[in-house]
Amino acid sequence: MSYGKDNQGDLLAPLAAYGISPITGFVPPIDPLETLSSEFQSWEAVARDLPSLIRSRRLRAEVTKLSILDPLKLESDRARERALLLLTVLGNAWVWGDREPNLVIPKMIAQPLCKIANALDRPPIVHYASMALNNWRRLDINEPVSSDNAQLQIRFTGGVDEDWFFIASIGVELEGAPLTSLARTATIGSHYLEDSDLAAVVCEVASSMDPILCAVRRMREWCDPYIYYHRVRPYFAGWPVPGIIYEGVFEAPQLYVGGSAAQSSLIQAIDALLGINHGSTTAGAYLRAMRRYMPIAHRRFVEDVELKSMLRSRVANGNAYLREAYNEAVQKLTDFRHVHMGLAHDYIARPSKLIEQEKGTGGTTFIDFLHDTRHSTISAAVAQSPGC
Ligand code: HEM
Repeated sequence: MSYGKDNQGDLLAPLAAYGISPITGFVPPIDPLETLSSEFQSWEAVARDLPSLIRSRRLRAEVTKLSILDPLKLESDRARERALLLLTVLGNAWVWGDREPNLVIPKMIAQPLCKIANALDRPPIVHYASMALNNWRRLDINEPVSSDNAQLQIRFTGGVDEDWFFIASIGVELEGAPLTSLARTATIGSHYLEDSDLAAVVCEVASSMDPILCAVRRMREWCDPYIYYHRVRPYFAGWPVPGIIYEGVFEAPQLYVGGSAAQSSLIQAIDALLGINHGSTTAGAYLRAMRRYMPIAHRRFVEDVELKSMLRSRVANGNAYLREAYNEAVQKLTDFRHVHMGLAHDYIARPSKLIEQEKGTGGTTFIDFLHDTRHSTISAAVAQSPGC
């Protein structure tokens, strides 16, 4: 179906300007680089051997042998992403990769890490965009990327559970790719489409949520909760209070949260389109803070959709079709959050046996946080007829 005048570029830029592909969504459409040039092979070598270096507790000794290199000599976007991936992983492995955490990242990692993170306006810690979005290779280069045609490049301890934890997340992003175009169309359409045409776009938004629901359920296929809890998540945890010192860069401890799909732009873009108000609560503030962990172009997309979408106010005064379509989309997002809460329960709360005290890798007291985000989603549904 064509929705007519999609030339309202003044409302939202084309997807490409936000670093989004209509085919792969927030996942880069060109495969991430697999190695840096010869000058940077010392980083590659440590990152490649990470599982054995962590197991044998030799990681820190190897890191201290590194010399300080300048990542800004790398010119292409893909090379800079690769450098950020390697250095964030080395930083997290340094802190968490032995019996006791080491709270001072040495200058041979800290200096290039902070330099490249600053250049890309991203955090100097493992985060979703580095570890998931930019950390895969295709198994069959003649087939498109999918969760069944990708493997993780850089791993902390290795194994199918770690591989699948991140690849399944990429699967959710890939299934969500059509939603990026639809979010743009619906945001623009919310300014000029008739109710019935706008309802048709919103219906498509709702039905396009089904594949992401299937994809998130697939997490259970190859990622075992016990292995995830004990072997996978400890390495991408955030920094403990009061933070970590980056030697030769910051004298005072710096505090960052760990890698979490709460840093995914996909669900935040859908929230933004639907006008889901997580408000000024702790949950709302946290989700806004997570935008600092997104690639800058993706962050702009979420912010622009949030600013420009009139959908919710159109729905408030819209016809029955529009209200029904909107409620359907809200229901699908609620279903996603419900299924996701089941994962958080089975993969963290249950193996931790602490339930109340346990935090997510993103640092939230996640049971309350995830209840709050689901509650604000449910509350967004509108009465079927005005005045009901
Ligand atoms: C075993 C798999 C997973 C577990 C255990 C898990 C756990 C969590 C936890 C604990 C949080 C709270 C933030 C934090 O402290 O980290 C969170 C947030 C979030 N996660 Fe996951 N997650 C999983 C998979 C996924 C996947 C595959 C996606 C989709 C890409 C996803 C999307 C989100 C989103 C969007 C949030 C923000 C909260 C919201 O918008 O409702 N998660 N997750």
